[in-house]
Amino acid sequence: MKSVPVYLLPVESNSYEVLIGSNLLQRVGQDLRQQIFGNPGNYVVITDEHVQKKWGSALQQALAGLPLHQIVIAAGEQHKTRATKESIEDQMLQSGIGRDSLIIAFGGGVVSDLAGYVAATYQRGLPYITIPTTLLAAADASIGGKTGVNTNMGKNLIGAFYQPRRVYIDIGFWQTLPKLQLQNGMAETIKHAVIKDLPFFRWLEKHAEDFSAGFTNTNLELWKKLACKNVEIKSGIFQLDEREQSGQRERLNFGHTIAHALEKASNYKLLHGLAVGLGMIVEAEISVKLGIARPKDAERLRALVKNYGLPVRIPHQLKVEDIITHTKHDKKSRHGEARYVLLAKLGQVGQIASDQGFVEDAIVRQVILNNQA
Ligand code: GLY
Repeated sequence: MKSVPVYLLPVESNSYEVLIGSNLLQRVGQDLRQQIFGNPGNYVVITDEHVQKKWGSALQQALAGLPLHQIVIAAGEQHKTRATKESIEDQMLQSGIGRDSLIIAFGGGVVSDLAGYVAATYQRGLPYITIPTTLLAAADASIGGKTGVNTNMGKNLIGAFYQPRRVYIDIGFWQTLPKLQLQNGMAETIKHAVIKDLPFFRWLEKHAEDFSAGFTNTNLELWKKLACKNVEIKSGIFQLDEREQSGQRERLNFGHTIAHALEKASNYKLLHGLAVGLGMIVEAEISVKLGIARPKDAERLRALVKNYGLPVRIPHQLKVEDIITHTKHDKKSRHGEARYVLLAKLGQVGQIASDQGFVEDAIVRQVILNNQA
């Protein structure tokens, strides 16, 4: 027998910059014209119908003169499917989009997950950049390279790790978001504080009222700080474990075993951030029941979630047994059993290894029922 070793060197670094500021569409245009991502033959903007209506012409203007193709998908988590991905790919193939193209994900979490996944697989991979237009996407989906789609069995079950080339977080987009959408993004922000940063948690407690006023002439710096903290905390974690192999990155999933199950049980009527708020409350209380966290910390977390206008009771229409079944289809499951990232104390969660994090159904059931409206 002969063995021929195959040594692969990384051909390019996956590292990238996240730019945070205002009026960044101009900066996107400038970067593309200066060819900092090479000289693509086509720029494929993937966006949804709402973003297109609101911001489509601003992006077109900023990118005027560049060879643009636009693909507009229906808005909403229920459209983050393989069918939508296929339709995007077919449109690209029919337009003759080749490997010398760059994808621009312009929208919220659904757009960035879908566009990133298309980028990961289209003709074996195209570069992409993200321009998140919601607080939720800026806090989470647009950075970190988790791309993918939902299936009938659950959320984000099919996908790829594939990093963008650059992320442009323009907080100007948030200023016209409905209050519900700001609340939706706040849950991931609270999550970052809970898992990693007690001073940031205290800062969020202090400024709940300032943020609930939305955007005012005086609180722009607070919003900017919040945007930066989200990126710093999230990237500080995923750069240690890009592909969720060592358990580090799983910490970002605090609240998410329950959250994804609630979203699925509600047929995605419950928005992701609202589900994450509830998921964190439930998972913190599970941690208390297991003797890992102090009741006082779980109460402080519940109070913060409430003060940011997020619901703290699980809608009664969602059946507890459905929720428990869906938790077992979560990506973190092993041997058919759901796993949880557990709260140790505010600012710190347990890092779960593959053989830990199982919790008896009876405990989960009891905590869900205690928190149901
Ligand atoms: N949303 C969790 C992660 O990016 O790892």
